[in-house]
Amino acid sequence: MKHRTAVTDGRPRSPLTRRCFLTAAGGLAAATTFAPSAFAIGGNTPLKVGMMLPYSGVYAKLGGDITNGFKLRLAEEGNRLGGRPVELITVDSEAAPSKAIGNAARLVAGKGVDFIVGPVHSGVAMAMTKVMRKSPKTMMIIPNAGANALTREACAQNIFRASFSNWQAGYPMGAELVKRGHKRVVTMTWNYAAGKQIIEAFVEGYEKAGGGAPIAQILVDFPNTEFQAHLTRIAALKPDAVMVFFSGGGAVKFVKDYAGAGLKDTIPLYGAFVTEGTLEAQGTAAEGIVSTMHWADTLNTPANIAFMKAYRKVTSETATVFAMQGYDSAALIAQAMASLDGDTGDTAELTATLAGSVMNDSPRGPWRMSKNHNPIQDFYLRRVEGGKNVVIATAVKALEDPGGRCRLG
Ligand code: PHB
Repeated sequence: MKHRTAVTDGRPRSPLTRRCFLTAAGGLAAATTFAPSAFAIGGNTPLKVGMMLPYSGVYAKLGGDITNGFKLRLAEEGNRLGGRPVELITVDSEAAPSKAIGNAARLVAGKGVDFIVGPVHSGVAMAMTKVMRKSPKTMMIIPNAGANALTREACAQNIFRASFSNWQAGYPMGAELVKRGHKRVVTMTWNYAAGKQIIEAFVEGYEKAGGGAPIAQILVDFPNTEFQAHLTRIAALKPDAVMVFFSGGGAVKFVKDYAGAGLKDTIPLYGAFVTEGTLEAQGTAAEGIVSTMHWADTLNTPANIAFMKAYRKVTSETATVFAMQGYDSAALIAQAMASLDGDTGDTAELTATLAGSVMNDSPRGPWRMSKNHNPIQDFYLRRVEGGKNVVIATAVKALEDPGGRCRLG
């Protein structure tokens, strides 16, 4: 199967469809010769998309935002993908790894979905790969979960990420803290794959830029939000800076507790995800927090301004990185489906089309799929000012996950 990269941007447009591709390549007669399965699965058959996301628990807002972003992009396509109507089936993953295999199997074998969009939680994603490996015809589009292995040693032809790897989410902040002259650093996060890998990547970046080992690394069980004893310890350690990963309800609680413990004005706080979709709830406690992320609410590009406006119109809320990742997950599917004229019958062609995705008009800025199926994208340095993540600079351009053991393409 030839690797085809007809996919070029994230907007409704006049795509290079399967039909015109074949015509250009030698007339429609060639279609029957070279692609006997053309339109085997397409036409008016609904495209089934399973949304396996947390709709309860500490990550509930993340799941809701991803779903809203996904639906927004779908609506921009007239709720049809590659000309086909779309059937959405939602399942609450509860961010519970122990329930992941059962939930994914119900969507794949039970409902016969063409795509699974999910999950949020790295542990849930790793468990899901066991189902996805046995179901090569079903595409997994990850709208958040950053577990490094998903696009390294656990990579697969049918697994694609529309978000980030945990390594990407942590690494850029390391050099930034060295640049700012912080020598005694404490890290703190939840004790599971996302937290551990984001902080590990931060430490890698920090040490590579000339920083020393952190003076303390604090781990809290997921989804525990009892932070008080740890904050007392941080106050006693008197570090130059604190770097954390918390998200959703945990991020709201941590930032408020950090300010409540009197640390906000004495020890600068840095983070990944700690100010995403939480700023309203955190209020002034979040002011001044610096983070790196592959998007920002204040990103001043036509694509982002249009996205923020459209998202507010349908939800009355400010968009978040999670909403953007849901939006781009739908954009990824929309492009591939347009390119294939809705035909999902040839799995090798479908995976090759998704693998060749180039997103030129995303709210995050241009990005493209790496050979391991992970976004190559810019990371921005942001600071919370007046309840917004204000972009200070581009921290790293076109950051690619280092990869590791994955052989695709
Ligand atoms: C993850 O579990 O991979 C995860 C969850 C929430 C985030 C980022 C990563 O905000």
